[in-house]
Amino acid sequence: MIEEISPSRGVHGVVSVPGDKSISHRYAMLTSIAEGDSHIRNFSTGADCHSTLACMGQLGVKHSFADEDGVQTLTVHGLGMHALKAAADTLDAGNSGSTIRMLSGILAAQPFTTSLTGDESLVKRPMKRIMAPLAQMGARIEATDGQFPPLTIHGGPLKAIHYKLPVASAQVKSCVLLAGLYADGETVVEEPVVTRDHTEIALRELGADITLTPRLVKLSGGAPLKARDLIVPGDISSAAFFLVAALITPDSDLTIRNVGLNPTRTALLDVLGMMGAQIKLLHVEEANGELIGNLQVKSSRIKGGVIEGATTAALIDEIPILSVLGAVSQQGLIVRDAAELRVKETDRIETIASNLRAMGVSVTTLVDGLEIPGGQTFKPAEIQSYGDHRIAMAFSVAALAAQGACHIHDAKAASVSFPEF
Ligand code: S3P
Repeated sequence: MIEEISPSRGVHGVVSVPGDKSISHRYAMLTSIAEGDSHIRNFSTGADCHSTLACMGQLGVKHSFADEDGVQTLTVHGLGMHALKAAADTLDAGNSGSTIRMLSGILAAQPFTTSLTGDESLVKRPMKRIMAPLAQMGARIEATDGQFPPLTIHGGPLKAIHYKLPVASAQVKSCVLLAGLYADGETVVEEPVVTRDHTEIALRELGADITLTPRLVKLSGGAPLKARDLIVPGDISSAAFFLVAALITPDSDLTIRNVGLNPTRTALLDVLGMMGAQIKLLHVEEANGELIGNLQVKSSRIKGGVIEGATTAALIDEIPILSVLGAVSQQGLIVRDAAELRVKETDRIETIASNLRAMGVSVTTLVDGLEIPGGQTFKPAEIQSYGDHRIAMAFSVAALAAQGACHIHDAKAASVSFPEF
């Protein structure tokens, strides 16, 4: 699907974004192994989270959707910790790294063997990062060339470990914690920098025996999870596209409703604020341990700057859209410590750079980042999504500020996280 996008004279009004993708995955998996029925409002409409639901379905967990006052509510009929069934076929995680990596933690503890695979992007993404800790816990996992999907997971009894994450990854942390639910003893995960803590919060909400301190999580295995009614906040990583659309088009004034504001996800707002963005938090409340609020954003003069270290890890999914912003900022943007971008849905350092260049923007790629001079303009261009949702959406926003109409090739990729985009 090719979408034509014309320049915009400003964005106004009120929008909502889909339920947070990270939280939706976690709620789908955890309520599946909780005891009883959970009702989940505003579950992500993205294809990735539906891949998780389909995988849980193949393991015997039933779910249904109903419309409640215009909001989709998902009911998951949890089976409890020990009643998943062996799947008749290979599970398909589609494009979703979160599905394959986090679900592997649960599957490693089951008394059966499961195979998992995914699309042409997912089968090239590294899995050693979860295979290593799960092997230490006692699981046996086979992978193509020892590291790529399809994975075959021979589950069995697990022992608790103390695991120091070699890379900052919430998916790996979550995988170990999910396995830890079934392990004998106390599982401890230490992370080099803070990553999103939705798994820990959800586990606490569902009754797990968990202790949270910054960069150190402790979980005792064996405690059952209890079903709950849950609300998924809007996805701040999806809101990011609208924030930047408003910032870079003239006379914009946009409100984004019900955005998740978990402090492990709001580095984006801190960085934008430091760069001069006019963004106001209109009101904040709490649901199931997660913060939710409305954001009002207006067109702003953006200074630019450097993103590095722990900040890079905290907004890794927002680098594509921040790169677009960087090109039209006053001083430009330098991104460092972002080697993880090379193993996302695409090698995002290359896919960002190639689309910026197609739009006439100069950019230097680094092994672990990008240097994008400021004060540049976007020329009308043929943009490739490369099948990557965040690339499709980031460059659709760039097109709003271009000097003429742009075409986004394979724009449908956006539906992985945001079908309504
Ligand atoms: C996610 C963690 C991040 C992020 C991904 C979602 C999660 O990946 O990029 O989009 O839901 O835990 P890593 O764990 O690989 O850093």
